[in-house]
Amino acid sequence: MGAQEPVVVHKGLENVYVCESNICFIDGENSRLLYRGYSVEDLVENSFYEEVAYLLLYGRLPKREELSSFVESLRQSYELPKVMLDLLKQFPKNAHPMDVLRTGVSMLSFFDNSSDDYSRALRIIGAMPTIVASFARARKGLELVAPKKELSIATNFLYMLNGNEPDEEDARAMDIAYIVHAEHEMNASTFSCIVTASTLSDLYSVVTSGIATLKGPLHGGANERALEYFLSVGSPEKAEEAVEKTLNAKQRLMGFGHRVYKNYDPRYKILKPLAKALSEKKGKAWVYKTAEAVEQAALKRLSEHKIFPNVDFYSGILFHALGIETDLFTPIFAMSRSVGWIAHALEYVQNNRLIRPKAYYTGELNKKYTPIDQR
Ligand code: SDX
Repeated sequence: MGAQEPVVVHKGLENVYVCESNICFIDGENSRLLYRGYSVEDLVENSFYEEVAYLLLYGRLPKREELSSFVESLRQSYELPKVMLDLLKQFPKNAHPMDVLRTGVSMLSFFDNSSDDYSRALRIIGAMPTIVASFARARKGLELVAPKKELSIATNFLYMLNGNEPDEEDARAMDIAYIVHAEHEMNASTFSCIVTASTLSDLYSVVTSGIATLKGPLHGGANERALEYFLSVGSPEKAEEAVEKTLNAKQRLMGFGHRVYKNYDPRYKILKPLAKALSEKKGKAWVYKTAEAVEQAALKRLSEHKIFPNVDFYSGILFHALGIETDLFTPIFAMSRSVGWIAHALEYVQNNRLIRPKAYYTGELNKKYTPIDQR
């Protein structure tokens, strides 16, 4: 036996590289986020979710005919099997939509007839909004709204949710939200996905792993809690006192802080003006103003510790302004991030290595069994 290597436990795998990847680059010090080399700002300015999804999955921007057949296949996947729609109507009304989405994606695998993983990817990405929107209506006893294949994935989601097509501004805001949530390197849920993929399990299981992980309040669940916080604060005037109370109680401010960004999250910068414009348009300006006051108060205490607002701080305001119920915010995050999860899973297995780290054992050794009456 060679000399024992010194044991280093990397708690939370902080700063540990688990693979090489060409999908996403994050510069946490300089607020940079690139998808396949393109800045997220450039993509928000010039592209739309379906084209960004193609870029993330295939590694390059599509030619016109490639994009149209990609979009066509994606739109064919909006429909759910009838038995799934019937079951969604019978789910308990108080089930959390993330649990419904996780269950729905698992159920989708029963009906899989895809020829390869790329078509399976489109099946999953295309069906997720229908699962979320259908349950959101079913739990209120509303008639389900069938997807419209002529609509983009972001527009179709709002259509299925509300029963009417959104206006241009709302549709664009939803598409931008879809783009900025699509991918983010080796975040917790993406890591869950590659762990599942590394055992050569299937893509439905990979995405189910991602949904289950994203649900946590330290990860994708923060957007829901951030909005609830602003609503509980109630007005900009009460923000300073509320933030002091929260931070003095050593509680986490949802939508602030990040493992990688030690400066502003570039997605926060994209979503903030959108949240402002839509809140004002929908007569909900007070919620935005309250969030802004919370942000200012929090920065006073947290910025010196390099803790800044992240993607979850204003995303909830944007979704709230679009009339979306709070417990649907994280499902929307998952609907968009499905493409990032799948892209990493497909990339990882190209040069697969089963992911199996170690736990440093600190327990007792060589204990002897004792009969129950002697314990
Ligand atoms: C996402 O990884 C990704 O890329 C994720 C994501 C993606 O696109 O996939 O970007 C999406 O998950 C964004 C993050 C959403 N989560 C939240 O907004 C929840 C609140 N944030 C925190 O819990 C925290 O900032 C994390 C979990 C996001 C990151 O935490 P770290 O890197 O593990 O940092 P830490 O918990 O070790 O905190 C360091 C210190 C602590 O102080 P001490 O206990 O050492 O005294 O900073 C403090 C923390 O208390 N701190 C906060 C804080 N975040 C960190 N204090 C108050 N409020 C916060 N939000």
